[in-house]
Amino acid sequence: MGERTKTIVAGIAFDSYVMNASGVRDTTLEELKAIADSGSSAVVMKSSTMEPRQGNPEPRYAYFILGSSRGREVQGSLQCMGLPNEGYRKYVKFARIIKTGCGKPVFASVAGLSEKDYPILVGAFQDGEADAIEVNVSCPNLEGKALIGYDFDQVRRILDKIPKQPKPIGLKLPPYLEQRQIQEMADIVKKYGISFITCINSIPNALVIDGTQERPLIRPKKGLGALCGGCIKPVALGNVKMFYDILRGKVSIIGVGGISSGSDAFDFLLTGADAVQIGTCFEKQGPACFARINRELEEILERKGYKSIEQARGKLKFLGE
Ligand code: DHB
Repeated sequence: MGERTKTIVAGIAFDSYVMNASGVRDTTLEELKAIADSGSSAVVMKSSTMEPRQGNPEPRYAYFILGSSRGREVQGSLQCMGLPNEGYRKYVKFARIIKTGCGKPVFASVAGLSEKDYPILVGAFQDGEADAIEVNVSCPNLEGKALIGYDFDQVRRILDKIPKQPKPIGLKLPPYLEQRQIQEMADIVKKYGISFITCINSIPNALVIDGTQERPLIRPKKGLGALCGGCIKPVALGNVKMFYDILRGKVSIIGVGGISSGSDAFDFLLTGADAVQIGTCFEKQGPACFARINRELEEILERKGYKSIEQARGKLKFLGE
């Protein structure tokens, strides 16, 4: 890893700007070991629930090419996994095993099926070996359940009750479409001493259709799934920008949504992200993508004369200024 892309998230040192996103190839111990052995600068685990879950019937994931933009293909994916995972007790153990095998930060991710699950899930990882806990308030695929991150009172109730020490707490946030939502969430983040935010999770309730077969690409929820990949990058960048304008380095921001190259990562850096996570591209290309994207970012920084992440972070220029 090059020196230029070292970064700090929630006070934790990262050897590079690029890590895996929760939910992709990170459910089994074997998969987590593969991430530990890869160029990912951290190991982010699958969101875990109180009990193990099989998840939704397959096909529940589809990759597609949407079109091309500025000479590049725009990819996307649609997922409605339904939180398949081995239950939080396993991930507490996995964190310990991964931690002893590698020097990288390990991030737990938790997803309650009800409010009362959160203090138990977070408490278990607070007592364990993970370095930080990403509290997922944006799981889009639970039928009949409101998406927590759009219900600010519910987020406050959850944050009131979870143990916030000793490991830093982050929030995995859904995409917001209005500035007023960003402002209210940023106020919550400040009030509860949240150390980092990860934005954005996938865009809920999207539909991709195979016109030949006259059917959706995936089976659960009559084809409705959560949209990920290159096609959501502009929404992700907009959210990172709006949060950065308010939080300005006081709270770390991890950008996620459609990053598959160093140039994508550089866009997130200019916008204010302290690090990025890779989901769809990791699913498609496998673990080699992390080192490649970070190397491409290194090259961009070198070419542009930026010596560190810090020097370029949030340095987006604006038309007319
Ligand atoms: C699932 C999807 C998500 O986007 C998420 O944040 C958590 C879980 C899932 O369907 O497994």
